Amino acid sequence: MCGIVGYVGTKNCVPILLSGLKRLEYRGYDSAGVAVIDIDKSKIDIVKTKGRLTILEEKLNQNPIEGFVGIGHTRWATHGEPSDENSHPHVSQSGKIAIVHNGIIENYLKLKEFLIKKGYTFSSDTDTEVVAHLIEYYYDGDILDAFIKTLEKIQGSYALGVLCLDRPDMILAARKDSPLIVGLGQGENFIASDIPAILEYTRNTYILEENEIAIVTKDKVEIVNTEKEPVKKEVFHVTWDVSSAEKGGYEHFMIKEIMEQPKAIRDTLTGRLPDSGFEVNLDGINITKEDLQKLNKIFIVACGTAYHAGIVGKHVIEKLTRIPVEVDIASEFRYRDPIVDENTLTIVISQSGETIDTLVAMREAKARGSRTLGIVNVVGSSIAREVDDCLYTWAGPEIAVASTKAYTTQLICLYLIALDFATKLGTISYEEFANIRDEIKRLAEKVEYVLTHKENIQKYASEHFNAKDIFYLGRGLDFAVAMEGSLKLKEISYIHSEAYAAGELKHGTIALIEDGTFVIALATQEKLFEKMVSNIKEVKSRGAVVLSVAQEGNTDIENVSDHVLYIPRTLDILAPVLTVVPLQLFAYYTAVQRGCDVDKPRNLAKSVTVE
Ligand code: F6R
Repeated sequence: MCGIVGYVGTKNCVPILLSGLKRLEYRGYDSAGVAVIDIDKSKIDIVKTKGRLTILEEKLNQNPIEGFVGIGHTRWATHGEPSDENSHPHVSQSGKIAIVHNGIIENYLKLKEFLIKKGYTFSSDTDTEVVAHLIEYYYDGDILDAFIKTLEKIQGSYALGVLCLDRPDMILAARKDSPLIVGLGQGENFIASDIPAILEYTRNTYILEENEIAIVTKDKVEIVNTEKEPVKKEVFHVTWDVSSAEKGGYEHFMIKEIMEQPKAIRDTLTGRLPDSGFEVNLDGINITKEDLQKLNKIFIVACGTAYHAGIVGKHVIEKLTRIPVEVDIASEFRYRDPIVDENTLTIVISQSGETIDTLVAMREAKARGSRTLGIVNVVGSSIAREVDDCLYTWAGPEIAVASTKAYTTQLICLYLIALDFATKLGTISYEEFANIRDEIKRLAEKVEYVLTHKENIQKYASEHFNAKDIFYLGRGLDFAVAMEGSLKLKEISYIHSEAYAAGELKHGTIALIEDGTFVIALATQEKLFEKMVSNIKEVKSRGAVVLSVAQEGNTDIENVSDHVLYIPRTLDILAPVLTVVPLQLFAYYTAVQRGCDVDKPRNLAKSVTVE
């Protein structure tokens, strides 16, 4: 999730690009850059750098550039570590074409091979650079033609802004699965990933749709389709202020990120789970069948929400591969002399890639001879750099302190790893593999469906936001999700909450249940459904008010619950991705009702870099 911006007009574009990028830094901040057609239209000047925007500003102060047409980029790395070379804009071999890109070009390796054969040399590790070269490859004097031909060849997601030295009055832009808008000014026009970037200059925009190409000059914006036919667009007049525009019109980053989960899941899956065949394509993981056969154990080590994802991972990896998996809290793992050796694989999970407990636990495992595999969101972070193999979640920046989309995408990565290992080891049949694969591919849509019912959850939150304690119960994978739901609630609403394995309740905790105690009971695991119904009866008979979550069709649960939320039907092992969503929403709406600082809960930091 990067940010792109572009300007065509009569003013020096550099300060305008920089102010736009500042407004987009929330979309990514590991590198930044600008490309500007210089005043005498003889070349495209590019200044770019690893690091935050302030470093780019310093570079531009030292080597000022000027021009009336330019594009800019703030990066959130996916392919290729944050570095000067991998920063955007990227430029074609002749220097005539410069581009900025947000998204992932899935077939870039194939295209790169093709272009290398045609004599192109590459100066970065990014997926993006192929686009600059490919446009040049097709260019024979008509840049729009070359752009359209390139769009026909690239697969994946993109928002693209393109400069061509032969058309120094113009920016071309197009998108697929990544957002892009055109800002309509007076004698000047803009492109941007998102509204905040241009709000200072205009409130009139075109929201670009798939298969639309914007031809942007200072006095005119033309939108055409890939057949070059004009497309009629309605002007979208923005009424939001900058702060709500950054949050996509939502009140908080947390709800924005909850709502982004379908897209985040699709991004995580990009290029990794082919529609056919009996394999998973895990870029960044080079673990062979022989490596797997040597393993006596897998450790999953993480903190907080990432640890909860690890508990789901244990169930899934054990079920599909029959390799024993132990899950540990990173801060405990390190100091308990864990039994780890060269036949152990240690999987560390971390959104930030900087959590010190997880980082030092990973180093400890490495020091004991274990191979290490990271599931990380922030590309180029310390954990990502130090692990032997790394699978990125590609969830985009997570800004709210409470983790949401990082958790669901960590789960997706764990499913992919389990499937990858199982196919290599031969512990899964093709039928079972295909069944899980097809169902994973439906998850994003099913999360969308759960999100459309968010008002129901808001209603329950408004009825129970004054609760003193809230208990979360579940069995099997539902217990793992109960832990995550409970953490979400306590960290942002400050309501005391505990998660219990529902079968364990009668061994002590049930003493806490009294008249009116609010209990959230997860009953999404088909095999354990009847057992869970009995546990719900146990708390109901002690006076609890129960909100249950079950798979659609299991309506018997209504007989023992006060309220029921249904998730779409799916395989038991995949249910956590759906079950967690109402729990995230419940925590969110409860915290909002209580007037809490949802995005920045007290005493917490997004990245915990102290032990
Ligand atoms: C809770 C939360 C934390 C993090 C934990 C690990 O919502 O965000 O529990 O999950 O601090 O952080 P990462 O994943 O960055 O290692």
